[in-house]
Amino acid sequence: PRVKALVAGNWKMNGLKASKKEVSGLARLLAKSKRVRCDVLVCPPATLIPLLKEEARGSKVAVGAQDCHAKVSGAHTGDISAEMLKDAGASYVIVGHSERRADHGETDAVVRAKAEAAHRAGLVAIVCVGETEAQRDARETLKVIRGQLKGSLPADATAKTTIVAYEPVWAIGTGRTPTAQDVAKVHAAIRGALVKRFGDEGAAMRILYGGSVKPSNAVELMGVENVNGALVGGASLKAEDFFGIISAYI
Ligand code: G3H
Repeated sequence: PRVKALVAGNWKMNGLKASKKEVSGLARLLAKSKRVRCDVLVCPPATLIPLLKEEARGSKVAVGAQDCHAKVSGAHTGDISAEMLKDAGASYVIVGHSERRADHGETDAVVRAKAEAAHRAGLVAIVCVGETEAQRDARETLKVIRGQLKGSLPADATAKTTIVAYEPVWAIGTGRTPTAQDVAKVHAAIRGALVKRFGDEGAAMRILYGGSVKPSNAVELMGVENVNGALVGGASLKAEDFFGIISAYI
């Protein structure tokens, strides 16, 4: 099936009220080029979701979050539920980013519970997987990825509710990227695992690549088979750079 691509920006812990101008700038750039053939998403810190949602009104830009708690509400100081994110204006949420897995000890089971919470709240879950450099050197990449997919994806995941993001940990924020051949190999393995488990839904599920995507490598990376878009960190912080990546789909 033809899968519509998604280019998603993950602002991580960056952005103050003033950065809303990046979203209006992006909306203006997108409006000028009507032929953009992908969906566009910005995931700011939760504090900015309502503001950016307002700023993106009437544009192609959707707004998402970077994490959620698995429960609806309760005594979980500092956490935010998927329902609250939805209420604030989010339509997507990233779960299981390697920085969450590393900084907050999130296991596959935790990530899966968060993805299930996203679905319960009506949010699209972007489930991240990726090997560390040591795992790559030990030639364990595919084994690691298959294990993370198995443990992190909800049983009822569909192409509408769930997106997979492949982010090699060693490529995040480093300027280093795998070769197009390496990306093709991993994305083919992910596609295979998705089809095996979810059938037609797995065939239609979007698989994003993330890790040092920038305007200069976007065309090559987005041209790889089974790459259905990008999850962009650093280069999503400036409207022009982010639009430069989106331009791979014009
Ligand atoms: O979620 C985004 C990724 O971690 C990629 O970050 O584009 O800064 O390498 P980066």
